[in-house]
Amino acid sequence: MTIDADALARELTERIEAAGDLKALDALRVAALGKKGRITAEMKQLGALDAEARKAAGQALNAVKQQVTEAIERRRAVLEDAALEAQLAAESVDVSLPVRPERQGKLHPISQTMDEIIAIFGQMGFAVAEGPDIEDDYKNFTALNIPPEHPARQMHDTFYLSDGAGGADMATVLRTHTSPVQVRTMETVTPPIRVIAPGRTYRSDSDMTHTPMFHQVEGLVIDKTTHFGHLKGCLQDFCSAYFEVEDVPLRFRPSYFPFTEPSAEVDIGCSREGGELRIGAGDDWLEILGCGMVHPRVLAMSGVDPDEYQGFAFGMGIERIAMLKYGIPDLRTFFDADVRWLDHYGFAPIEVPTLIRGLTP
Ligand code: DAH
Repeated sequence: MTIDADALARELTERIEAAGDLKALDALRVAALGKKGRITAEMKQLGALDAEARKAAGQALNAVKQQVTEAIERRRAVLEDAALEAQLAAESVDVSLPVRPERQGKLHPISQTMDEIIAIFGQMGFAVAEGPDIEDDYKNFTALNIPPEHPARQMHDTFYLSDGAGGADMATVLRTHTSPVQVRTMETVTPPIRVIAPGRTYRSDSDMTHTPMFHQVEGLVIDKTTHFGHLKGCLQDFCSAYFEVEDVPLRFRPSYFPFTEPSAEVDIGCSREGGELRIGAGDDWLEILGCGMVHPRVLAMSGVDPDEYQGFAFGMGIERIAMLKYGIPDLRTFFDADVRWLDHYGFAPIEVPTLIRGLTP
């Protein structure tokens, strides 16, 4: 046996431990273990030895191979760690840089409009209340003074989900309006109450101007002396802020809703000259919401004493006021999930609407 296995192992291991980077380490691996490597070459010579010597030398070389392989793995781990450390130290992310335009998603106009509505009513001291899309028959209808067999039920094109084994009131529906959130709020909150409830609503209706799912925002104010004048002032302030038109003309038309008395529908003044709709000017009117003083029976059913408290409510279609403000001509396009449409009508997600900095970018 001509080789000194220990010396070979020591020499190779020392070099491996001195390797400065992964490339140098790989070169050393090839030089030791590759086809033409040192250890491979020694292995080839074993054939010339007699059986006894071959066995001893073979074992010794295998041990060298093992040691060298382990040394390489240890060094690789050290070098990889160091490389990662170096990369982390060298790279930095400037989080204050603007988003690259090609990477920027857009907020859906419904989300934007809801954010604007919340910003305006938030400023007036309203809290945001929520209720589930799947509502029970009682809160969607009965508690709003729409008992079973009431003709108003027919007008709602309701999606019924289950017929309620526990009685008719327990049947579930997809809520046909956000008004049941009034009930939920009055059942749980002691007045004074001042909430809005934006959210999805559903009716089995689909044509040019109706989609089976749409959005409403409900408003509810209950206190001891709240009156119709407060309702008018509140809606006037909201419409002026939302449409960004000072003293936007509003018209309150007497109407009927089972849950309010008196009730009104509100129109906003506009002009339609040359096919272009302009809010706040001219002699034309567009209906935007329903409202009224909460019916005493509705208060009582939800545990609010009508002899002590009174208040107003309103309900507004969000698509409708989004279309009016942003000139979106077709309701159905809201729910086509067409990214080109969203790219055109959508909003920058980091521009949060506030009354101070402006509602719209
Ligand atoms: N819930 C009504 C609807 O969907 C809208 C409405 C009218 C809500 C008058 C109200 C209200 O709170 O007072 O048609």
